Amino acid sequence: MEKKNCLILALDVTDRENALRIANEVSEYVDSIKVGYPLVLGEGLGIVKELAELAPVIADFKVADIPNTDRLICEHVFNAGADAIITHGFTGRDSLDSCVKVAEEYDRDVYVVTEMSHPGGVEFFRPVAETIAQMAADAGATGVVAPATRPERVRDIRKIIGDDLHIISPGVGAQGGSAADVINAGADWVIVGRSIYNSNSPADAAMKICNEMKC
Ligand code: XMP
Repeated sequence: MEKKNCLILALDVTDRENALRIANEVSEYVDSIKVGYPLVLGEGLGIVKELAELAPVIADFKVADIPNTDRLICEHVFNAGADAIITHGFTGRDSLDSCVKVAEEYDRDVYVVTEMSHPGGVEFFRPVAETIAQMAADAGATGVVAPATRPERVRDIRKIIGDDLHIISPGVGAQGGSAADVINAGADWVIVGRSIYNSNSPADAAMKICNEMKC
C-alpha cells in the first residue's frame, strides 16, 4: 500500500449503501479501506471488489486456522480483489507460512496481529506479542497490527521487527488512542473506524485525523 495519508478506514458499517457512500466521501484521505466480518457478512464478499475501485482493500478476517484452511481463505479473499489480509499469529508458523505463500503467489500483503487494542487484548496476547512479531518478520509478512491504545507497545514491537515491516495500528478515537502519538511511536498507518463512519461528516473527521498526524 502506498503511504500518502497514513490513514486506513475501518469500514464496519453493515450495508452496501452506507459503505459506498462513506468510502466515496473519504477516499481522498485514506490509503486503504479495511473491511471485516460486519460488512462482509452483511453484504457478501462482492463488496470487496466495489470498494477496491476506490482504494486498496485490507480484509480483516483475523485468519486463525490450520494451514490448508488458511490457504483456502486467503485464495478466496485475494480472488475477490483484496489487496491484503490480516491474520492471527498464535496458530503457529506453519499457518502463517501458508498465508504468506498465497500472498506471494498473488503479490498481495499479509499483516499479523500482535497484541490487540482493546483492554482484554493484554490478557493472552501480552506475553506472546513480541514472539509473534518476531515470527511475522521471520516468515516474511508485510507487517503487523499493533495497538494505538498503547503506543509504548508499538515502540516495543517496532524494536523487534525493525524498519522492514510495516505497523498498522487500530484503536484511535473511539478506543481512546491518539493518531499523532502512535505515529510518533513508530506506526506507519492508523486504522480508524467509528470516529469516521459515525461522524456527521466522515470526510471532515478523516481530514482532521490526517492533519493531526502530519504524515
Ligand atoms: P474503531 O471503531 O475502534 O475500529 O476505530 C477499529 C477497527 O480495527 C479493528 N481492530 C483490530 N484489528 N487487531 C486487529 O487486527 C487489533 O488489535 C484490533 N483492534 C481493533 C476492529 O475490528 C475495527 O474494525
